[in-house]
Amino acid sequence: MTFLKSVFSNYRTVGAISPSSRFLYKKMISPMDLAHDIHIVEFGAGSGTFTDALLKRITPDSQISIFEIDPLFIKKLQLKYKGDDRVVVYSVGAEESVKFFEPESIDYILSSLPFGLMGEPLVFRILGSAKHILKEHGKFIQFQYFLQNKKHIHHIFPQVKYKFTLLNLPPAFVYVCKK
Ligand SMILES: C[S@@+](CC[C@H](N)C(=O)[O-])C[C@H]1O[C@@H](n2cnc3c(N)ncnc32)[C@H](O)[C@@H]1O
Repeated sequence: MTFLKSVFSNYRTVGAISPSSRFLYKKMISPMDLAHDIHIVEFGAGSGTFTDALLKRITPDSQISIFEIDPLFIKKLQLKYKGDDRVVVYSVGAEESVKFFEPESIDYILSSLPFGLMGEPLVFRILGSAKHILKEHGKFIQFQYFLQNKKHIHHIFPQVKYKFTLLNLPPAFVYVCKK
C-alpha cells in the first residue's frame, strides 16, 4: 500500500510500478558474499524488499545503511527496522552518501535508483559517490528496466557484468559493477 501511495504522489522519484520480485532480488543479491561481516549501502530501498531479503542472510555484525528520500518510505523503513541494530536509515539522497563514510569502506552498494528519470549531473554525482566509498574489490549493483544509463555506468565503473530477469514487472537488467 505504501508503495502505491508513493508511486501516485512521486512517480519521477519512485520510478517503478510495483516492488521488485523475488527473482530480481535474487539476481541482485547473488553477486554478494554474505558469509562474512560486511557493510552494505542501499540506495532507494522503497518499502524494503531487498533489505528484508538481505536481513535474512547477512551475519549479526553486518550492517545495512539505507539512503531514501520518499517520506512515506522513510517512515515505513524506520518503523520496520527499529528493533534491528544492523539497519540505519539516512533520510537524504544517495548523492549525499559520500559525506557519511570513509573512502573505500563499503563492501557492496545495492541500488534501485531510477537513473533513467534523473538528470545526467545527478546520475554522475551518485555514481561518483558510490565509487568513492566502495572498497577496491567492492561491487556496485544496480537494476534498470532498460539499459539507458549504460554509458554513464561504464564511464565510472570500467568492469560491468549484466544479468537479466523476465520474471519481474517489468522485466529488468542488473548491472554488477567493479572499479
Ligand atoms: C524503484 S524504487 C525501489 C524500491 C525497492 N528497492 C524495490 O526494488 O522494490 C526507487 C526508490 O528510489 C528512491 N529514490 C529516488 N531518488 C533517490 C535519491 N536521490 N536518493 C535515495 N533514494 C532515492 C525512491 O524514493 C524509491 O523508493
